[in-house]
Amino acid sequence: MIILGIETSCDETAAAVVRDGREILSNVVVSQIDIFAEYGGVIPEIAARSHLEAMMPVVNRALSDAGVSWDEIDAIAVTHAPGLLGSLLIGTLTARTLAILHNKPLYAVHHLKSHVYANWISKMALPQFPLLALVVSGGHTQILYMKGHNQFEIIGTTHDDAVGECFDKVAKILGLPYPGGPSIAKAALSGDSGRFKLPHPKVEGLDFSFSGLKTAVLRAVQKEVGVPISYPSHKLKELLSEKQICDFAASFQRTAVEILREKLEMALVEHPDVKSVVVAGGVSANEILRKALPDAYFPAPSLSGDNGAMVAAACYYEIQSGVEPTDPYKLDIYPRISIEN
Ligand code: KG4
Ligand code: ZN
Repeated sequence: MIILGIETSCDETAAAVVRDGREILSNVVVSQIDIFAEYGGVIPEIAARSHLEAMMPVVNRALSDAGVSWDEIDAIAVTHAPGLLGSLLIGTLTARTLAILHNKPLYAVHHLKSHVYANWISKMALPQFPLLALVVSGGHTQILYMKGHNQFEIIGTTHDDAVGECFDKVAKILGLPYPGGPSIAKAALSGDSGRFKLPHPKVEGLDFSFSGLKTAVLRAVQKEVGVPISYPSHKLKELLSEKQICDFAASFQRTAVEILREKLEMALVEHPDVKSVVVAGGVSANEILRKALPDAYFPAPSLSGDNGAMVAAACYYEIQSGVEPTDPYKLDIYPRISIEN
């Protein structure tokens, strides 16, 4: 079965053609990172307009790279939620129009499910059920229990910021470029991860909290450079030396990874039947996290961030689980938040 996957939930315009949920025939991602680097974050209106410009060239390129015609496409899968409304609208409306035009079944796929299914693509050994999925992206931090394909139970979630968001906000405090994850990871390579002691939030059960960690970094930076807590955070970077920035980046990254590992270990104790752990979402690209969880499955680094291949893979397993196509004329284009949807 050959599926065209379309993804536009945030600032990547992506389309891919995937066979049987695992074999990539093409994978095209056009990132808007360069546009947003100068703003220090995504501006939803600009993101939506950029998707509109890139969408059809990206879809056409995905088909030509794969060497397939519309006749060979069995289904179209599109990210439906969660994400930025304007961005999602471009992807869903494009997919809906193409499904009607080419008479293809359409599947609306949840973005976090897609991230999880990046772990099935191009793998020799596949994750085994039941499994735990640690979803770590710019918008979510969750632990999911999966009894089987397409069966998701949220057993832990963040009460406030997502871990990726925390990387992005800490990077801003340190004056490192957007997106914060890769730039923190890069600065941390030259830093001392033991220099600044940062607290682990006390959150009940398997839930997370990352806004406190961001504030802890802010206070530690203010203390280090000797300014009061009322000092504007966007000016702190001017007072930091290269060495201090790298040490803060390394100390923060180490703490964030420790928090994720501790919660995952708690989840494994509570679910002794679990056979595999998969890590998913943009933060799964992080090398320190990969080293901290040596037995877990991680997506290929090129599939950690947003892409269309994971959407096609998730759709394939939805179809295998008996999920019916979405009526393109009735596709609810407004995003819903919960993974149960
Ligand atoms: O999954 P994703 O591409 O988009 C969402 O669905 O949110 O995740 C983006 C997040 C950003 O917060 C980015 O800073 C983070 O993933 N990220 C990383 C790394 N690469 C991307 N965080 C830590 N280390 C990285 N190497
Ligand atoms: Zn994502």
